[in-house]
Amino acid sequence: MPLPKWLNDAIFYQVYPQSFCDSDGDGIGDINGIISKLDYISETGFNALWINPCFVSPFKDAGYDVQDYFKVAPRYGTNDDLVRLFEEAHRRGMHVLLDLVPGHTSDKCRWFRQSALPERNRFSDRYIWTNNAWHRPEGYNWVVGNADRDGAYMLNFFLNQPALNYGFNKITEPDWQIHYKDKRVKHTFDAMVRIIRFWLDKGADGFRVDMADSLVKNDPNKTATALLWSKVRKMLDKHYPQAVLVSEWCNAPVAINKAGFHCDFLLNHENKLTDFAFYKKDEQGQSRAYFCKTAFVSAQNMLARYLYELGETQGNGYICAVSGNHDVVRLSEYLDESERRLAFVFLLTLPGTPFVYYGDEIGMRYLPQKSKEGGFHRTGSRTPMQWDKDLKNLGFSSAPTDKLYLDVDRSDDAPCAAQQARDKNSLLNFVRTIAQLRHSRPDLQADGEFKTVECGDNGVLCYRRGKNTYVIFNPNEKEQLTDVQIGKVIFAHGSYTQNYLGTWLSPQSAIIFEK
Ligand code: GLC
Repeated sequence: MPLPKWLNDAIFYQVYPQSFCDSDGDGIGDINGIISKLDYISETGFNALWINPCFVSPFKDAGYDVQDYFKVAPRYGTNDDLVRLFEEAHRRGMHVLLDLVPGHTSDKCRWFRQSALPERNRFSDRYIWTNNAWHRPEGYNWVVGNADRDGAYMLNFFLNQPALNYGFNKITEPDWQIHYKDKRVKHTFDAMVRIIRFWLDKGADGFRVDMADSLVKNDPNKTATALLWSKVRKMLDKHYPQAVLVSEWCNAPVAINKAGFHCDFLLNHENKLTDFAFYKKDEQGQSRAYFCKTAFVSAQNMLARYLYELGETQGNGYICAVSGNHDVVRLSEYLDESERRLAFVFLLTLPGTPFVYYGDEIGMRYLPQKSKEGGFHRTGSRTPMQWDKDLKNLGFSSAPTDKLYLDVDRSDDAPCAAQQARDKNSLLNFVRTIAQLRHSRPDLQADGEFKTVECGDNGVLCYRRGKNTYVIFNPNEKEQLTDVQIGKVIFAHGSYTQNYLGTWLSPQSAIIFEK
């Protein structure tokens, strides 16, 4: 099946709902708040959203512990509000992905409470239980003593997130492990499909899928997990051909080619593209990231694995490079603003579908602090969006400071959207320019070809996108020489001079040109 057309020109914006915009003054972001900022998002050039889980939950893992998949958490609003968000987004030509957590629920979920009963019932096999409370085989995490059922239950993540039972691929203990093709666990799969259809029927455009590779246990090559997802994809192709699934898998050849995801996230895992590009450090703690101006590294390692995955998945789906997300320390902690400008040119001129984490477009900081809702070190990347310096709580909320979900950045120079919108040299306007450029040039969009033209030891990287659009970088703080001849300039950050030796690129420059 061809990929939904809208994806080709999609630039996603990730919204962390609790920290984005509070419309009713209770100190926590909500859906009406997101609706009120759709124009900002769209004007910046983002035409698609991913919203972190917004369903009823005890919030022990910020909503990744779902209690009721069919109901919006009251703190965010109602199902009707979410439907209105879909409508308002669609009216602006935007698309909205929800967050699907298929691998586990909250231990407060009704399914789990039923499953924990000693009497057999239709939820007994919905979670993974051993056949006696003292049996907790190695290799997985178990909880015992929290229910009267004589068994230990498997966790998928935190203590309060029991693993849903999609069965095992290789059975080693037949007394309690169920094969993934057994109809007893098909109910779990069917329930997940019901959730997907419920929200697609209400107008959602798809899902970002949490820990998508975690469904079937004892499935080392993920063949059984991939098979389950490929069935979901078949269902979508038949009934919802415009819907999109984006996996948190970070293995595009498996996630896209085998499991049938339309897109797979490129996370900051070791030796992945964004690790080399933004985060890499040496043993002394010095940055070795490609975009660090003093690192002087070639782009060769950064591209090696990426180009392989790109080739493998060509035509089947897209790899999503991200500026960050709610699980990692913000980009601004690794790269300064001049470095981040180049990083944004890179992110927004790569093939596939880029994702920008809310606040990265204005350079929000990582603010380490006490853990909130299972955030731990991640909490510092989840603070409220900074809208306007002149407004109370920077425009996030009208609530008293002590009622805020998390406090806003109180530093004098906290970056804010309204002030940056008025400053033509701001990071926000820089990001907006590149995003608009991508929308205006099909060459730069998701399925335009990517071909390396130059990848020098001096750090210069030049690639061609699509038919005749070229992007060249000199990330270093020193001028660099290249053989590449610059054609008709479309966008220049920094400058270049050409002489008989070649082209001299000014320090920290990025030029987009046509030939
Ligand atoms: C994913 C989410 C993360 C969550 C975890 C468990 O990695 O991105 O925030 O804690 O899954 O659901």
